[in-house]
Amino acid sequence: MAARSRDVVAKPNPRNGRCRLISGNWKMNLNHLEAISLVQKLHYSLRDSDYQFTEISVHPPFTALRSIQLLLETDRIPISLGAQNCYFEGSGAYTGEVSASMLSKLGVKYVIVGHSERRDIFGESDEDVAMKANAVLGLQMTPIVCVGESLSQRERFETEGVIQSQVDAVVAAMSSELCEQLVFAYEPKWAIGSGVPAEPADAVVGANAVRSAIAKHHGEDVSSKVRIQYGGSVNSANAKEFLDQGEIDGLLVGGASLTAEAFTAVIQA
Ligand code: PGA
Repeated sequence: MAARSRDVVAKPNPRNGRCRLISGNWKMNLNHLEAISLVQKLHYSLRDSDYQFTEISVHPPFTALRSIQLLLETDRIPISLGAQNCYFEGSGAYTGEVSASMLSKLGVKYVIVGHSERRDIFGESDEDVAMKANAVLGLQMTPIVCVGESLSQRERFETEGVIQSQVDAVVAAMSSELCEQLVFAYEPKWAIGSGVPAEPADAVVGANAVRSAIAKHHGEDVSSKVRIQYGGSVNSANAKEFLDQGEIDGLLVGGASLTAEAFTAVIQA
């Protein structure tokens, strides 16, 4: 087997110049020992070629970040380290919070911001999400900004409007230079953890709504550089259908990223 090194850098998709990103969002699962074991197994089951056209990121809970950072560096595993959240202030009296600068010191490359569970369970507003995205960009990391409508919004045909206002909140006051670095994840709330994924065509509608909201503020050129993932009940049986859509540049995977077998099957789909 050829030596794998952290120098493996995924190549962009020749069709659109964007590099595919598949991210495992572990949510509040796996202690640091379980997290280490999962990354080791994942690395053994992936082939060198799996890293060639897809960047892979894992997003463990905060308590496992340092362990996974050391594992990735020591074993030169070309998986990117991600976090699930951060606070927008740099430091101070914010009991229980973790700042973007703390994450950047741990070698974190991607930070999920505005996941619907954060918005719905912890009351994060569009303004919070925008401030978090800016804090992450300010530390030379990449935010994965989650947007998506609820079932009732979908039933009222509000999907595109909801996505637009969530994207507006993040990109309207941002420079184009920073905006083009963003990753968005279109995650319809009704598809998350439900076992009922969106149809690929719905995912494309969502991705197009994200792209056109960006274009409204920053033009087509900038919006064409932004990567857009789909998330919500992705598994090995449906991953390929989403990735076959030219508008979808990757996947944000929850449940199916929690075992090496399932996540490998998604990546290799
Ligand atoms: P799921 O979660 O894959 O378990 O639906 C996706 C997410 O919440 O990011």
